[in-house]
Amino acid sequence: MTDQTAIYPSLRDKVVFVTGGASGIGAAEVTAFARQGAKVAFVDIADDAAATLIAALRAEGLAEPHYQHCDLRDIAALQAAIATVAQDVGPITALINNAANDQRHRYEDVTVEYWDERQAINLRHQFFAIQAVAPMMKAAGGGSIVNFGSISWHTNNGGMPAYTTAKAGVEGLTKGMARDLGPFGIRVNTVIPGWIMTQRQIDLWLTPEAEANLMQAQCLKTKVYPDDVARMVLWLAADDSRMCTSQLWVVDGGRL
Ligand SMILES: NC(=O)c1ccc[n+]([C@@H]2O[C@H](COP(=O)([O-])OP(=O)(O)OC[C@H]3O[C@@H](n4cnc5c(N)ncnc54)[C@H](O)[C@@H]3O)[C@@H](O)[C@H]2O)c1
Repeated sequence: MTDQTAIYPSLRDKVVFVTGGASGIGAAEVTAFARQGAKVAFVDIADDAAATLIAALRAEGLAEPHYQHCDLRDIAALQAAIATVAQDVGPITALINNAANDQRHRYEDVTVEYWDERQAINLRHQFFAIQAVAPMMKAAGGGSIVNFGSISWHTNNGGMPAYTTAKAGVEGLTKGMARDLGPFGIRVNTVIPGWIMTQRQIDLWLTPEAEANLMQAQCLKTKVYPDDVARMVLWLAADDSRMCTSQLWVVDGGRL
């Protein structure tokens, strides 16, 4: 297989907003949209990673994405960041709710504060980003929203109940908002990554034993990379998926 991928004419000049775009799958999404000629804006708290990504895109001769530091646990800051993008870049017609944090925790240790903080980074901002972009998508006659779920709760993963609960909630968010926003031509979908080989995952969890178990579980016997997920996101943001909404799109090499 070559690494040639599709160009979507409908993504050229589209204003795309990616949360958590500085590293991991989000950075692959920012890069993929930039290569499509989209106008990309992203937020993150990892300023150094964001600067590295922007420099790499510049070196590739691509338009520089709009970056703002924004801690997504702060909803007022998220709303302000979205308003700034709308003013400086243009009305957002593709929202990629990508950011999350899969920090492990023992259920015995979870406090009310920790539980709420995990929902704030893994679920709450997705809803408020949708609420903030919906008026501009309505005015534009439509839009595409991609929410990030996770395979982890589908496969009964333990060791992070606040995360798996939030990620299950993402699927409910998608289905409820797809109904409310469908009449305005706004599509809402969930992407479910399998185990994706970001640098963070490789550094933290990829042991020879874990890789052997993964290859046993996947139908396709190669690891899944951030670019594989970004390609799905491009298609969901493009007009090519115009009648697809309220669905789960699984990129996992065949585990579920
Ligand atoms: N990598 C996987 O194997 C995998 C598996 C299942 C689901 N997912 C989901 O895919 C999405 C991307 O995952 P990833 O592996 O690239 O994650 P990651 O942890 O590597 O990157 C997440 C990005 O979000 C940013 N971020 C974290 N907290 C933030 C905050 N409070 N405010 C703003 N930005 C913040 C981080 O700095 C980082 O750039 C997530 O929703 C994740 O749950 C990933």
